[in-house]
Amino acid sequence: MCDFQKILESIKEKAEKTSEKGKVPTYIPELAKVDKNHFGIYLNMLEGNDYCVGDWDIKFSIQSISKVLSLAMAFNCLGANKILKRMDVEPSGNPFNYLSLLELEEGIPRNPFINSGAIVIADILISELKNPKEEFLQFVRDLANDQTIDFNYEVAASEAKTGYTNFAAANLLKSFNNLENDVDEVLDFYFHQCSIEMNCKQLSNAFYLFANKGKCLNNKTYLTSSQVKRINAIMLTCGFYDEAGEFAFEVGLPGKSGVGGGIVALLPGTFIITCWSPGLNPKGNSKLGMLALESFTTQSNLSIF
Ligand code: DON
Repeated sequence: MCDFQKILESIKEKAEKTSEKGKVPTYIPELAKVDKNHFGIYLNMLEGNDYCVGDWDIKFSIQSISKVLSLAMAFNCLGANKILKRMDVEPSGNPFNYLSLLELEEGIPRNPFINSGAIVIADILISELKNPKEEFLQFVRDLANDQTIDFNYEVAASEAKTGYTNFAAANLLKSFNNLENDVDEVLDFYFHQCSIEMNCKQLSNAFYLFANKGKCLNNKTYLTSSQVKRINAIMLTCGFYDEAGEFAFEVGLPGKSGVGGGIVALLPGTFIITCWSPGLNPKGNSKLGMLALESFTTQSNLSIF
């Protein structure tokens, strides 16, 4: 039996000693203010024990990690067929905000985790829900079994001010008739979903259902096993953009990153692990988070492969 606490402690110690911690993103000015010396991990074992180190209880901006939760809500509301008419499920091999492929492929995003794909999911939710932002936030709170989770309105406003590339993506989608609602309304939802703040524990809890065949912490079932299989497959192949192959190769788990420096990954039936370290590598994924998770699956010998 593994000493998980000891493994996490050793990973934290190594991370703290590393001088090259990556770079916080500057294109969302509010995120540029975050101290990149933060480091935390929360490990949630399905059999009941939890382990944590460092800043696991400090909230951070979940950013693109929210795209898994919005996809889950869209699957829950609509099922896969309608969604798959409007986007693909192939890795893009390109950065998360890359636009050229979207034009070449006539407004059909490669997958729901690049920005254009997540913007289409936001559009789908707006068409389906009466009060989209409130209902999405409630969905996330229910998944995490925590009613204190909230948007960070400064972060949402900060991204709305400087989100030129997302405006370009949404306008391109609209020009190809792949947005039903107004660009401004869709992006307002998208920027708010990305601005949700959680700590490592809340995020691990919110992802519990992806490791537990669709049943979340409060025992309510939101997704079928087949939907969970599909979402985990998209996390594995597309969760890290043009570094998805590297994450599968080094870590061997489905997972998702965000430019807030969070990474959440899971082994179905066994655990969910969240790491937060705000400095990013050149591909926009947490630099020390990637290394930490590689070290965790190597030391524990737990991965899907
Ligand atoms: O749309 C954006 O650029 C951000 N709100 C989210 C990007 C992101 O988190 C990419 N992940 N590593």
